[in-house]
Amino acid sequence: MADHRTAAARRPLISGNWKMNFNHFEAIQFVQKLSYLLGKDDLGEVDVSIHPPFTDIRSVQTVIDADKLQFALGAQHCHFDDTGALTGEVAPVFLAKLGVKYVIAGHSERRELFGETDEMVAKKVAAIQRHAMTPIMCVGETLDEREAGQTETKVLGQVHAGLTGRTAEQVASMVIAYEPIWAIGTGRTATSDDAQLVCAAIRAAVAAQFGAASAGALRIQYGGSVKAGTIAELIAQHDVDGALVGGASLDPDEFARIAKLGR
Ligand code: 13P
Repeated sequence: MADHRTAAARRPLISGNWKMNFNHFEAIQFVQKLSYLLGKDDLGEVDVSIHPPFTDIRSVQTVIDADKLQFALGAQHCHFDDTGALTGEVAPVFLAKLGVKYVIAGHSERRELFGETDEMVAKKVAAIQRHAMTPIMCVGETLDEREAGQTETKVLGQVHAGLTGRTAEQVASMVIAYEPIWAIGTGRTATSDDAQLVCAAIRAAVAAQFGAASAGALRIQYGGSVKAGTIAELIAQHDVDGALVGGASLDPDEFARIAKLGR
């Protein structure tokens, strides 16, 4: 079967979501160690992004710039407004100024623990793109939804809602991460067939709404207990263009192995 993806979409994106782990000293050490483990050859074939907590971002940026590292800087979250009386929130423009390239929007932990709605996710996606950064929009079903046969309904509903107001061109430059909630931090990974099925359904839904060109350029990651032992089979799937890695991204050796095997 001919590959319907563009060359840019076929270039894998391996993202490390550190969640609430590592202070800025630990973050610097991690990035320096990772830079020894991943060479130019590796990074010539795969994009690697690192998503530290907000308080680490400036420090990580400084290391990346000073050592001219090929890692992309990421963030885990942001607000959708550019300024305001919003105690504790971080505006997307602040992240753009720090050289952040990828921002996660709608992670299931933000949706479940911090009340992020589909509407808020759509606003975040728009705000991230307004500041020329790339959203990694997360979608995924709970175990109950999966067992009730509602995986596609839930996931495609989130995709549709999160892309509200986007143009075909904007969608083409995005990343969508399929993260089944029951696989996050549980050690349970979707089978590669399951991951492929849902990622293909996402691409087909995007093609139906925004056209084949957008769907072919969009990158779709799988996330949920990804390890060095599972990445190769996942990335070999036709519609899996990368991985959003949580726990395994906290170990530089393991994360480097994932990036190497994810090429
Ligand atoms: P784990 O890899 O720890 O399951 O986390 C996945 C995730 O939520 C990445 O965003």
